[in-house]
Order: sequence, then structure tokens, then C-alpha cells
Amino acid sequence: MEIRKLTGTIGAEILGIDVSKPLSAAVLADVRRCLLDNCVIFFRDQALSKEEHIAFARQFGAISSSPVYKTLDSHPEIMPVVKEPTDSDIIGDTWHTDETYQPTPPLGSILYAREVPPVGGDTLWCNLYRAYDTLSDAMKRQLATLRAVHTNEFLTGNTQARNATRSTKLLETVGVSHVVHPVVRTHEETERKCLFVNRPFTYAFEGMTREESLPLLNFLYEHSAKPENTCRFRWQKGSIAFWDNRCTMHYAINDYPGFRREMHRITIQGAVPR
Ligand code: SIN
Repeated sequence: MEIRKLTGTIGAEILGIDVSKPLSAAVLADVRRCLLDNCVIFFRDQALSKEEHIAFARQFGAISSSPVYKTLDSHPEIMPVVKEPTDSDIIGDTWHTDETYQPTPPLGSILYAREVPPVGGDTLWCNLYRAYDTLSDAMKRQLATLRAVHTNEFLTGNTQARNATRSTKLLETVGVSHVVHPVVRTHEETERKCLFVNRPFTYAFEGMTREESLPLLNFLYEHSAKPENTCRFRWQKGSIAFWDNRCTMHYAINDYPGFRREMHRITIQGAVPR
């Protein structure tokens, strides 16, 4: 197995592995290590059936079903992320960490490209360890005891209008959820600290109004997504991205009008952030 870093701060491509086959214990440990070290890892030229995609994912933990988006009837473990040529909108076109409105946000997701546009449709990731590490000591002290309220209202507030322009469909029966997480999270495997707030799902600091919270939250969002904290992946059919959702945000770029893009996403169950 060969590892090629995409940037000096985040992202690595793994070459020389066929993930449609079960991984040996040694290779699995190396892939896990690579994910922890690089926050997001990529594979190219993979040919996966739905069952093989599910089997690959299960080697990293239990699969969790999307609480808000429709999944495949035949394979509820898989959430299709699709843009038809006639769609104007997509999901994920803002910097976000997946499902932080849940008590146990995902460990990560494995996104597999089944059809890609001839150009465009890249995805960006940013490194939230680096976002934390590059804050001043005074700001780190200010954030140390803060907790933030996260909610899914951004998604569920306008389901019908959102479903009208997108092929990745929101479920219509989802209730509103609110949870509280630390603003600075300690990653349970690396024990490193990272920022854990994101624009669509973080509502306010606990005990403060949204208006009081937004100036500092907006600073943290801008700071996190500085270009030097990011990598950008150019998809091909058969590419896979596997991101650690505990220490990253990602952003899907909607820049391929008139073309089709079909991805299959499987999400791995996470733990309560601490
Ligand atoms: C997502 O936010 O999971 C979608 C990412 C993508 O479509 O590239």
C-alpha cells in the first residue's frame, strides 16, 4: 500500500488496495492509521457492488442510517447523493460536519462515485485540528469551557421546497432535534483537540442568544475553512473518499449545471463527543 499526501495539512490518497475484498488485519490497521493521520483518505478506480461497499464500511464500525435523508429501499445502509441534469440544487454545498445535531454524530462517511460530471463536482475538506491549533492561546482558553447547541432545523425547516429542486430527498417525517456538544472536542482515538462547530447545524453557544454567539461562531467558521486548512478532491468514476467526521468539515461544489452526478454514501456510527 502506498500513501500519497494531497497537501501538507490534510488528505491522502491510498494506492495499491482493492477495497472490494476483505482487508487483512494489518492492511485495515494501516488504513485506519492513515485516516487518523490525514483526516480524509481517497481510493481510486474501485469497482464496488452495493454489497461490497457495505462490507468495506463494516470493517470500520457499525453502519448508521441517515436520520434525515432517504436511503435506498433495497439497501437502507446506502444513502444516494444524486444530482440530475435538471436539478438546480445539491446537498452539502456549505461547509459542514455531518449530523452534529445528533447525540452521537458519525465517526465518518465513505462516499463512492458511481457517475461524475465531465468537469466540476469536486469536494473540499478542512482540518479542524489545525483550525484549533492555529488559534491564539487566549482564544483557546476562551473556548475551553464553551458548549454549543446544535439543531437540524436548517434541514427540516423547509423540506418540501428543498425536495422540489434536489434529487437527494429529505424525509418528510423528521422531527426537530437539539443537542449540546463541546465547542472544542477531544478526538477519542488521537486524543487531539479540534474545533467542533459548523454553520448549518450549530445554533448558539449554550446559555447565550444566537445574536450573542454569531460573531465568534462566524470567526471560527472563517478561520476553519482557510485555504491552508483544506484539500480539494477531483472525483472520477470509481473514486472513494472516507472522511473522519470528528475532525473535519466538507463542502460539495455545485458547479456542473446540466450534468449528472451519482454518489453512494455509507456512514459509520460515532460516539458522544467529549
Ligand atoms: C455530503 O455532504 O455528504 C455530500 C458530499 C458530496 O456530494 O461530495
